[in-house]
Amino acid sequence: MSNKYGQKIWKDGKFIEWEQATIHSLAHVVQYGSCVFEGIRTYNTDKGLAVFRLKEHLQRLLNSAKIYRMDTEYSLQDMIDASLETIRVNNFGACYIRPYIIRGYGAFGVNPLNNPIETYVAIWEWGKYLGPEALENGVDVCVSSWTRMAPNTLPTLAKAGANYMNSQLIKMEAIRYGFDEGIALDFLGYVAEGSGENLFLVTDNVIYTPSLTNGVLPGITRDAVIYLLKKMGYEVRETGIPRERLYLADELFFTGTAAEITPIRSVDKITVGNGKCGPVTQKVQDAFFGIFEGKTEVPADWLTIV
Ligand SMILES: Cc1ncc(COP(=O)(O)O)c(C=O)c1O
Repeated sequence: MSNKYGQKIWKDGKFIEWEQATIHSLAHVVQYGSCVFEGIRTYNTDKGLAVFRLKEHLQRLLNSAKIYRMDTEYSLQDMIDASLETIRVNNFGACYIRPYIIRGYGAFGVNPLNNPIETYVAIWEWGKYLGPEALENGVDVCVSSWTRMAPNTLPTLAKAGANYMNSQLIKMEAIRYGFDEGIALDFLGYVAEGSGENLFLVTDNVIYTPSLTNGVLPGITRDAVIYLLKKMGYEVRETGIPRERLYLADELFFTGTAAEITPIRSVDKITVGNGKCGPVTQKVQDAFFGIFEGKTEVPADWLTIV
């Protein structure tokens, strides 16, 4: 593994060595994908190392677990403490936090209920997800031939491991055809999201993003960006977006814990705007990174100092 990772992983209230966090290959999670998880970033700020929107991420983790009836014995506050302790005990600087809840080894059938619930927090170092130049120059994307999950199939409000089988199909197809990322449509053909990012459009100075009924993950960065845009005075519409509006938009950008604010410079080889990071995208990027430089005012609990 090229990335540096923490030596200790938090498991059910105790720290174990990284090498000990192994699992039987017949565990329910391995056979049937029974896992919910989070991805959270820390940033260096002038007040010290800070976690971005820790509470909201961990609430989404517990929501995902609730949807799948995974009864973890740990509360929101327990998970906050576990996440902060994992960073401290590993003596880590800026890192990515991965809390996850799984169904372990027990019964072999599909019925999940007779398997132990295990709760973990791991950390590792992580750079720029779509490459270091992506934030500045943007990425080239395609519309995927794969559709995001329809309602009544796999719930997209849950961040479940199994949802990422769909994301893998989107990502592999994009890479195979030479794109950086793919955008999936929802089951009705409206724009949904990237394999691991939410999406925003700018047209005539109005901002559009797919609504939570369009098969998207309720992104924490999406929420932050809506907040920042509204504060800047922009109108933000959460609504169904036909595919062709991607081609006609003045600006397009991805948001996500991994992707942060990444401009999109082309879709299906059609140039977006003038092919450069647009003015609204630039403002959002500046406001977003300004949070960690103390330049952008946001609710105090968005940053948890380690
Ligand atoms: C499918 C998908 N959509 C959107 C996002 C962005 O969500 P967030 O901003 O909470 O990281 C992610 C990243 O976790 C994702 O995997």
